[in-house]
Amino acid sequence: MKNDATIDIDIKRALTSKLDSIDFENLKFGHIFTDHMMTCDYENGSWQTPKIMPYGPISLDPSAKVFHYGQAVFEGMKAFKDDQDQIWMFRPKDNFNRINISAKRMAIPEFPENFFFQALDTLLKMEKDWIKKGFGNSLYIRPFVIATEPGVSASPGTNYKFMIICSPAKSYYNGEVRVKFSENYSRAADGGVGYAKAAGNYGAQFYPTNLAKEEGYQQIIWTDANTHSFLEEAGTMNIFFRINDTLITTPTNDRILDGITRKSLITLAEENDIKVEVRKVPVQEILDAAKDGTLKEIFGTGTAAVINPISGFGYKGEKHELPVLTDSYATFFKDKLMKIQYNLSEDKHGWRYLVK
Ligand code: COI
Repeated sequence: MKNDATIDIDIKRALTSKLDSIDFENLKFGHIFTDHMMTCDYENGSWQTPKIMPYGPISLDPSAKVFHYGQAVFEGMKAFKDDQDQIWMFRPKDNFNRINISAKRMAIPEFPENFFFQALDTLLKMEKDWIKKGFGNSLYIRPFVIATEPGVSASPGTNYKFMIICSPAKSYYNGEVRVKFSENYSRAADGGVGYAKAAGNYGAQFYPTNLAKEEGYQQIIWTDANTHSFLEEAGTMNIFFRINDTLITTPTNDRILDGITRKSLITLAEENDIKVEVRKVPVQEILDAAKDGTLKEIFGTGTAAVINPISGFGYKGEKHELPVLTDSYATFFKDKLMKIQYNLSEDKHGWRYLVK
């Protein structure tokens, strides 16, 4: 699908901006959206001219397939502003590739690369004042695709909508994050859709997560569906364990999201001489390490959460607290990664993307 051809984009500007009414210091993640959104329809076998229009509700037939069969996939990306007012994104090509991998698994037609980047660049330039300078400020970008064809026959839609909406963001989690290791519930199974950013993967986590919340946890670390004896991912984050000075994370497969922050961290660890083992992580190994004091850290990685330390975990009624470290890997990698994202350090790997 590589195609650099310039495309037309229909642009209709908002008459007024909400910008002045936003309290950028007190943002709750994902609640405020910018003035414009991108929308592109798939009809008669092809993607039509992308439109950028004022942000607002869309109208869909109640029988649209997305409502009945969950044919929907999404991505999460961020844009950052440096001190020279330049706007940067982090590895957006990887998000583009991944939304098409997710789309394919959900029988959704792939979106063309030139549509994606030209529409995204145009939208971000229009919303540039929504991207605030300063470490920790970002614009969270949510591309998504839904099946819009009316009709409740259980088959893939013929019509779709690809949209991009944007939300100014600070941190995803406020305060400490405690996790529960899943004992019965699963997020994904072999041969399933766990590796895709399919909307249903997230919705399916809400009920078990609510139960975990009642016990005082914010998130679940999912275990493998067959035996519940290997730790997999946190659902909104991939997960890393530090035993002594070695990092351990589970390999990607058809159950695990191929996280962009995850793989960037593995690269950064290797070039900073921190040992990373990408292998299965038995629950028992982590319990043993917590008991003998060799478990130093657990942290999650993701676009929204960046790198989020876990302060404790629970399993089969037992609670374990993690030590508070002054030299944590979570802090070390978060700083390294964010300096690249905010154009404050060298970008050896070509991860930054300048919005032009
Ligand atoms: C992201 O990190 O962008 C995610 O997709 C997690 C999200 C469900 C908030």
